[in-house]
This record gives sequence, structure tokens and C-alpha cells, in this order.
Amino acid sequence: MSNAPTSNRRTFAIISHPDAGKTTLTEKLLLQGGAIHLAGEVKARGQARRARSDWMKIEQQRGISVTSSVMTFEKNGITFNLLDTPGHEDFSEDTYRTLTAVDSAIMVIDAAKGIEPQTRKLFEVCRLRSVPIITFVNKVDREGRSPFETLDEVADALALDVSPQSWPVGMGGIFEGILDFATGSVSRPEGDSKEFLGKRDPSPELPADIAEEAELARAGYPEFDLEAYRHGDLTPVFFGSALKNFGVTELIDAIARFAPPPRPQPSEAGVINPDYNEVTGFIFKVQANMDPQHRDRIAFMRMVSGTFKRGMKLTPSGLGKPIAVHSPILFFAQDREIADTAEAGDIIGIPNHGTLRVGDTLSEKNAVRFTGLPNFAPEILRRVVLKDPTKTKQLRKALDDLSEEGVIQVFYPELGGQWIVGVVGQLQLDVLVSRLEAEYKVEAALEAAPFDTARWLKGDEKVIDAFAQFNRTNLAKDRDGDPVFLARSAWDVGYQQEKNPEIAFNATKER
Ligand code: G4P
Repeated sequence: MSNAPTSNRRTFAIISHPDAGKTTLTEKLLLQGGAIHLAGEVKARGQARRARSDWMKIEQQRGISVTSSVMTFEKNGITFNLLDTPGHEDFSEDTYRTLTAVDSAIMVIDAAKGIEPQTRKLFEVCRLRSVPIITFVNKVDREGRSPFETLDEVADALALDVSPQSWPVGMGGIFEGILDFATGSVSRPEGDSKEFLGKRDPSPELPADIAEEAELARAGYPEFDLEAYRHGDLTPVFFGSALKNFGVTELIDAIARFAPPPRPQPSEAGVINPDYNEVTGFIFKVQANMDPQHRDRIAFMRMVSGTFKRGMKLTPSGLGKPIAVHSPILFFAQDREIADTAEAGDIIGIPNHGTLRVGDTLSEKNAVRFTGLPNFAPEILRRVVLKDPTKTKQLRKALDDLSEEGVIQVFYPELGGQWIVGVVGQLQLDVLVSRLEAEYKVEAALEAAPFDTARWLKGDEKVIDAFAQFNRTNLAKDRDGDPVFLARSAWDVGYQQEKNPEIAFNATKER
């Protein structure tokens, strides 16, 4: 039952609402880890990368990042794997999936705005999987709400215990640094830019009101409790400024010391621990290669156990026969590097031609199947209309491919010939149309569908068949042939659920 206490891997993601400062914080974390040398590189490199693919022009036009990536850096003997998640509220499914591959998360909150909608959504996904969270209240170098207000909001809105670990010495124009509760020292701004450049005041004189606030904060909120944090019941809260480099070191130290090492993963045959002596992992993301001329894909595998060595043969659960992984990729921030070895908690990119699917388990002996990688109920459904009706075959192939990649979900209704695609955000639809055209030469339009959402049906086959008899017009199959109820409204789902208590109407589908 060991949780590999000796593992030095920390695999985490940053969750936030757009504009809270995730990119800036990522950059500063990587700088501290020595992974990049100049501020601004994260964005700059992102742009160079984007320019390489046609459909990614959408990202450029909208100035957002659709593609997730993995950044690895090291500090004090700890290897940090930071999984980037698209921050845009429109493109969340990818983000959700990425969160299935992390062991913990940093939640970035804007000190002036508090909990915003996307923060809350992502938090709920973390909670579903009991992913522990460290909170970073960013931008305290600007005017913000009172720290008490922010703490109370996190506690109330997310039903979490909060445990402040630091305190801002003033905010905005009167910002004079950050008091660290553990050491009692204050990190100070320096120079014209008022950045943190390493100056720490070990026994600071604090303004009376700040000293009193800090005292109240320490007495009034729970102390840090590792167990409660690891269970996802308590979040340690750090105040800081990513832009001015305040609180960043403390955050890295907190991940190193508190964040859990690689977690065991549920499988059909029971839980697989990181020290299980066989290489196992699962695919949480598939990304089309940057070059549209080649149908190459990179499948991102989260290692669950074992020590991977280059050239190893692994068997994907969806394929049944082994593939040799000759050129795995580790995504170092600096550049892609060819991985020689990887261990539990690491992410490796496996180039392939479409054989690997999101949700696949890879293992040496093909005896393990991981569970718990969900599909999410789409929030937007659209009918796909072909401009050239002779291209039906190509369209079917494209929709199957793109749903394997996790770009969209596809539903084939039992009645009528029009296929339905489902997404969790509008942007996915734009990506779909432009990739259909660029990669499959299929011109298609998306029209309103008479449905609002979809639910996967689970239950006794006979019961579901009987239900289907009466609800043909609402029945569809997903790309795996599993039955799906297309609902006109959330009310419809509730009504059918009540009438058919023996059937589960699931908002997620586990593969
Ligand atoms: P995101 O990835 O979460 O969307 O946020 P990002 O880091 O891009 O930050 C959003 C804006 O907030 C940026 O300003 C960034 O400089 C600013 N910012 C981030 N952290 C801090 C902080 O600690 N203090 C202050 N004062 N500002 C911060 P921008 O003007 O929109 O972008 P840019 O042109 O500076 O890149």
C-alpha cells in the first residue's frame, strides 16, 4: 500500500481564471527551476510554436492557448512536472483531462477579483478526484480586496479550510513585502521595479495594523495540517505577486514539501501503486503534430508505475499488440528532449499515427486497465451538415479521429442520418470546422441541434433496450457504440431519471 514516499516527483497543474496570472507564474516557476533564462520566453516560444500549424491560427487570432504541454524542471533534487492547461474558459475538456494526470494543483486567484467562474469549475474537477490544492493569491502588488475577505471567500465558496502561510505587508501603493509565517521574515521589494530580488528581513518592524492582522490571521484560521491538505479538505494559502516574483520560492518549497508524490491509480484489477514493478501508464491527451502534412500525433502518457527505458515495448489496451517506443519525448521547458528513462509521475510523449487514444492504458504485460478517465457531458451540441454529400465517408472518419483525439465528442443518432457533435466550449467548434477543412478536405457547417446535453446510459441491457423503444428520437450511440440519451434540457434529464430509476443517466463516461 506504499505511496512511494521516496519519490522525488511532483506532478501538478495550475488552475485559474483567465488573466489571474497563470502564464506569469509558470514563467517564474520555470525561471526558479533554471529551466528558462529570460522572462517572456513562455509566451514567445508559444507563439513560434503556434505559427507552425494551420488550425492553430485560431489560437493566434484569439490570443489563447488551446494546446496543453508539459514542462519539467528540477530544484533541490525534486523533479517538478508542470502540466499546462489551456486557460480559456471555452476550451475546458482538455483541461479536465489534464487534471486526471496530476497529483496536485496550484489555484491562482487574483487578489482583486477572488474566486471567478473558471476557477470554481476547475476546482470542482479537482475535488471530484480529491486533488490537493495550494492557493496562491496573486497581484498583491496592486490594490486588492482585504486578505481576510479573500480567505473567507475561498473557505465559503469552495467549502475548504484555509490556512494562511504568509501575509502581505500592505497592498498596492503601500505594498512593502510579504511576511512569511514559518520564519517570521519579510521578503522586500527592491529597486525601481519593486521586485523581489532576494532581500529578506529576518526580524522586521511591522506597521502596527499589519502586525495585528497577521496575528488575527494566525489565530483565526486552522493551522496547516498535511493530512487534511492531502485529502483535499484544507488549502494552504500563500500571498504573492508572480509579476514581481513574490511568493514564488515559497510556492515551490510548498510543493516540494507538502504536495503528494505520484498517487496510486485505480484499475479494473484494483489499485496500481507507483512501486508496482511493471511500466504502466495512461494516455490523457493526444495532440496532432505541428506539421499538418503529416498525420503524426503525440500521445501524452502519465506514468503510473515502473521505470520506462527507451525502446521498451508497451501494449496499448486499445490495440492488443505491443508497440516499441523508440523516440519518446520529455517536454522540458527549454526544448523537447528525448527521454532515456522515466518513472512514476513523469509524462512522456509518444509519437504515433493514430493508434493511441485518450483513455488507453499502456503496460508491459497488457494485464492492467486503468479506470477513471472520464468523458464529460457536452454543454453544446451541434448537427454536422456536409456541404458536399459525397464526402460522408471522409466525414465519418474525421469525426471518429477527432473524437479519439478528444477534440470533440461524436454521437450517431439511431434515427436520421445527421451526426451530432458535442463540446464543452464554443472554441472547440471552431477548431473542428477548421481541422475538417485543413486535414480532411471536408467542408461542413454546424447547425443548431434540437438537443441541449447528453447523458451516458448505464444499467441492465434489457432495461436500456426497453427505454430505447420509447425514446428512439433521443437515442444515439457514441463512437464506442455505447448508448447515449440526447436531452432537450436539463429538466428532461431529471424527468427521465425519475421515471427510470433503474437506469443511470451519467454526465461523465469512464473509459
Ligand atoms: P493568465 O495566464 O492567467 O491569463 O494571466 P497572465 O499571466 O497572462 O497575466 C495577465 C495579466 O496580469 C498580465 O498583464 C500580467 O502581466 C499581469 N500580472 C500577472 N501577475 C501579476 C502580478 O503579480 N501583479 C501585477 N500587477 N500584474 C500581474 P497584461 O498587461 O494583460 O499582459 P502583458 O502584456 O503584461 O503580458
